[in-house]
Amino acid sequence: MLVGRQPEQQVIDRLVAAARLGTSGVLTLVGEAGVGKTALLDHTVAKHPDLRVLRATGLETESAIPFAMLLQLLRPALTALDGIPPVQAEALSSALALPRRPTAGATDSRDRFAIGAAVLSLICRYAEDGPVAVVVDDLHLADSPSADALVFAGRRLAADPVVALFGVRSPEGDRVVAGLPDLRLGGLDLDSARALLARARGSADPEDHVRLLHRATEGNPLALLELGAADRDVVESVETDMPLRVSPAIVAAFGRRLEGVDAETRAVLLIAAVCGEDLRLVADACAALGSDPASLAQRRTPGSSR
Ligand SMILES: Nc1ncnc2c1ncn2[C@@H]1O[C@H](COP(=O)(O)OP(=O)(O)OP(=O)(O)O)[C@@H](O)[C@H]1O
Ligand SMILES: [Mg+2]
Repeated sequence: MLVGRQPEQQVIDRLVAAARLGTSGVLTLVGEAGVGKTALLDHTVAKHPDLRVLRATGLETESAIPFAMLLQLLRPALTALDGIPPVQAEALSSALALPRRPTAGATDSRDRFAIGAAVLSLICRYAEDGPVAVVVDDLHLADSPSADALVFAGRRLAADPVVALFGVRSPEGDRVVAGLPDLRLGGLDLDSARALLARARGSADPEDHVRLLHRATEGNPLALLELGAADRDVVESVETDMPLRVSPAIVAAFGRRLEGVDAETRAVLLIAAVCGEDLRLVADACAALGSDPASLAQRRTPGSSR
């Protein structure tokens, strides 16, 4: 069960209400790992069971397979393919390797326009039978052709009963959804954090402990849950200048950002993590250890190569 997020739920509920009345809306839920994008998407789908849902999740293992995500997303709507302009239907069929494919290869730039238009047409055609929610989580992990076509369609949704919600991890996915309306998810407020911890533990934590956890995690729900389950001495080490020991789940969620970062840059990051906010100390330590802090500025963030 979702705790908190009332303002965010209101924004989404307004979009759903507008979609029911025939005005489309698109919104990206953007935020760091563990902040609750998936939880909010799941909650939205569960809360509006009357919506016809087209849903997909970007998968790292399929991120190099063109149109893999689109096939996942559009599968329930493919029965409506005959109801869209033939040139679009053919381009989309070809991209998704459907049996009606008339020609080999449909991925040149001209066809990519037709595919984006086809995605838009197909979603709108599908919505003729009732309001549709297009829900794509982890869009930053989707293959680029799918993401491009979906964003193309998302920008052009107008007067149809469609609400499109995309979950995107930041900063990895910022560029993927640039230009679409976004809802930036920050951490939970203190009351929500207290409720989340109480529900996870089955009883209320002492208030000073809750406040400490909330401060240490900045309200990130994943971090709250993981740190809340840790030994008390680990949590209390937050109050010291010692680096925090974190669980494997936290390492997995946040460590991904280090993928693709070379050894020298990792060394600078480690120095910065140990030194804290004193930039002069960071610079001195880097100099003493033969690392160049300027190298940080030259590194691209993972996922920014799109
Ligand atoms: N508002 C909330 N109420 C209750 N539980 C929440 C809330 N937000 C997040 N959680 C829980 O916190 C954990 C992390 O949330 P979630 O998986 O939704 O994060 P995310 O933003 O999708 O992260 P990622 O970028 O890794 O996909 C999950 O166990 C989720 O159920
Ligand atoms: Mg998620």
